[in-house]
Amino acid sequence: MSNEEHHEHFSHRIEGSAIVTVIGILILFASAVIVTLMAPRFVDPSWTQPTSYYQVQMYEVSDPNFYISTESKESRTLQYIYHLKNGFTLLAFKDQPLVRIVAPPDLEKYVTRLKDKQLKLTSRLLLLRKPVNGTFKAVDAAAKLRQQLDADFAKEHPDVAKTDYTILELYDPGRTEAFALALTDGVFENFVDRDFTLVEGAKQSWHQDPGVIYVSNPQEYRYLKYKTTLSEGWRYDPEGSAIKNLEELNHLNLGFRSRKELIALGEHIYAIEGCWYCHTDQTRTLVQDTVLNGSDSYPAPPSSPNEYIYQAVTYPGTRRIGPDMSRVGIKRPSRDWHKSHFWAPRTESKGSLMPSFKHFFDDDPRGTSSSQAGIPNYKFEAIFQYLMTKGTRITPPTQAWWLGRDPVNTLQIIEGRAKVVR
Ligand code: HEC
Repeated sequence: MSNEEHHEHFSHRIEGSAIVTVIGILILFASAVIVTLMAPRFVDPSWTQPTSYYQVQMYEVSDPNFYISTESKESRTLQYIYHLKNGFTLLAFKDQPLVRIVAPPDLEKYVTRLKDKQLKLTSRLLLLRKPVNGTFKAVDAAAKLRQQLDADFAKEHPDVAKTDYTILELYDPGRTEAFALALTDGVFENFVDRDFTLVEGAKQSWHQDPGVIYVSNPQEYRYLKYKTTLSEGWRYDPEGSAIKNLEELNHLNLGFRSRKELIALGEHIYAIEGCWYCHTDQTRTLVQDTVLNGSDSYPAPPSSPNEYIYQAVTYPGTRRIGPDMSRVGIKRPSRDWHKSHFWAPRTESKGSLMPSFKHFFDDDPRGTSSSQAGIPNYKFEAIFQYLMTKGTRITPPTQAWWLGRDPVNTLQIIEGRAKVVR
């Protein structure tokens, strides 16, 4: 055997195995690509798509409607405003004991009076303002109403000094979008599910859905810029100028953040503050989880994959030094509860191990003051909005993947066909 011959033979064998290797790699690569492209078709769509209007609402519907701002850099006043669109947001105009509404005859049907049993809702963009005398003599109507209210009050409570009523005029601003202030009381929108009527203009199919958002008693947001020797800023002023559209709102640099931005920021805060170190974010299909995360009347549904589809990163967590977070939006919806809990966990929960997060409040950037409760800043709003998504994106029990696999028969219990066993 010559050297030449040996070499040829050797290289020949190498070539053969190289070709097999290359073909092998190609097959592996191709099958990986095919699996990646094909697999999603065979996955339950409820894992990758929103399946309920609750989930969509958290983003598509309610988000463009809600903005938060700090008035200026130094100021500690937080402002909430809604972005309202004609035919898009449901509005309710409702008399309150101390807030009364006057309306021209053609708009009267949109006002829910104190004695009305049903809330009247409309998707027409109407707003409230300080009474103005136009074609409808609102100032005069308001004066007349005030006189009558004062007289009625004096008759009912002869020994009490008279009360101060706020009287607002319902009017048609004739625009397709507007920014509005609304009474929030910490609850930014409500799910309309019963005792309401739509008076006009329910064009979108979701208007018929239970679970639609409505805004109560919105007043147009008008702002006024001001300048003092020390500071420059802006404030809400009914006589100021209106914000025309979303671009202008962002362009004006008023420090507004949308709810979607807040939730994303909250997710980030959850990561960097290490909340996941002590908290899990998953209701497992175990009895202890569904009972612990549930209420007295029914257990919590186990987590569904699609509850997480809007999150960039998820934090299922491994340790439960504190309670699980996946249903906290339902278990603890109170903004005030979270305010005092983040400020000083032990005020809400005796002996809590949770550290306080005082830098979520403005008076105390380093969290060193222990005396005065601070005013929540955008970090608090962000983590609060993020927590409120937990458990509020759930799949309706009738459509959930875990039906039949659920150890405590959640659906039967919700429907009253079974009882929780602990
Ligand atoms: C050192 C561990 C630890 C860290 C870090 C921690 N927590 Fe907690 N958390 C706890 C404990 C323990 C409880 C239960 C006692 C209580 O309510 O304070 C708790 C309770 C809670 C509750 C009330 C839950 C319920 O169902 O009652 C919320 C909400 C919460 N934490 C949110 C957070 C957030 C958000 C962060 C991060 C910014 C965080 N926690 C960081 C330990 C921790």
